[in-house]
Amino acid sequence: MVMGLHLGRSLILGSYKAPRQMIWVTGVIILLFVPLFIITGDLLPWDQKGYWSTQVRLSIISSVPGIGHLAARLLQGGSLTGVVALTRFYVLHILMLPGLLALFVVVHFHFIRHRGLAESMGSDPVSRPRIPFYPNMVNRWLFLFIMVSIILGVISWHWTPPFGDPADPTDSSYIPKPEWWVLFLNQLVSVFKGSLAVLGSTIIPAGLAGLALCLPFIDRSPHRHPTRRWKILLPAAAIVVAIFILSIMGYMEHFVLVEN
Ligand code: HEM
Repeated sequence: MVMGLHLGRSLILGSYKAPRQMIWVTGVIILLFVPLFIITGDLLPWDQKGYWSTQVRLSIISSVPGIGHLAARLLQGGSLTGVVALTRFYVLHILMLPGLLALFVVVHFHFIRHRGLAESMGSDPVSRPRIPFYPNMVNRWLFLFIMVSIILGVISWHWTPPFGDPADPTDSSYIPKPEWWVLFLNQLVSVFKGSLAVLGSTIIPAGLAGLALCLPFIDRSPHRHPTRRWKILLPAAAIVVAIFILSIMGYMEHFVLVEN
């Protein structure tokens, strides 16, 4: 949610524009880590929900043309989701993804340091006080990071997340309910059926990610004020509305209609 707000702010204020293109690009790459953390993390409790959600995701990954089948087999370490898959997901989740994420956050900060933050709209850049990147800015972010970590630590220690029933690969009657943040993706996959399924599982999500990555190179006008950038902000708002509608449809399908 915080990353979404941060992205929204950068989009509305046009702070992805030159010379800050690479700050935005590294930001989008960081955002793409979120689904990878979700996919690899969900299996780790080895409960019914995690196991069957993983099965659904692996079948979606398998359906990606070309590399899908190989990617799913590599993740699983065989044709079944068992102890090898659990070990692979664990190593990815606690070692490789955090390492890569940390690397990209460092690169994000590197570009922030060298390209500077965008001037706030309407302020006179000359009269604006300049704050040194190191130690002042870094210390502020570090303080925020430590506070958020402590608060999250206390929350997860005090309100321990519940375990579901242990994973039972023989119980295929279990239907996992998607988490709210993936409802729109699940819905996108189920809207397109048969030969069009590839649209929902690959083409639209990859196209959106590609568009987001290329945004600074598509919108190269020097204007940053939102009223002068409606050609970008209007389609972006339409995408947000579409995500919202798909999420509501997913919620109705998985939570309301199922219970009735
Ligand atoms: C782990 C995730 C992230 C961290 C820790 C992070 C951190 C930061 C920090 C500390 C700043 C400088 C202060 C600020 O403007 O808020 C910044 C700036 C920026 N970030 Fe991120 N960011 C993350 C993800 C993202 C994402 C997902 C995007 C968008 C796709 C993004 C795009 C930008 C842009 C364009 C700026 C420059 C803002 C400006 O010049 O006003 N970042 N980031």
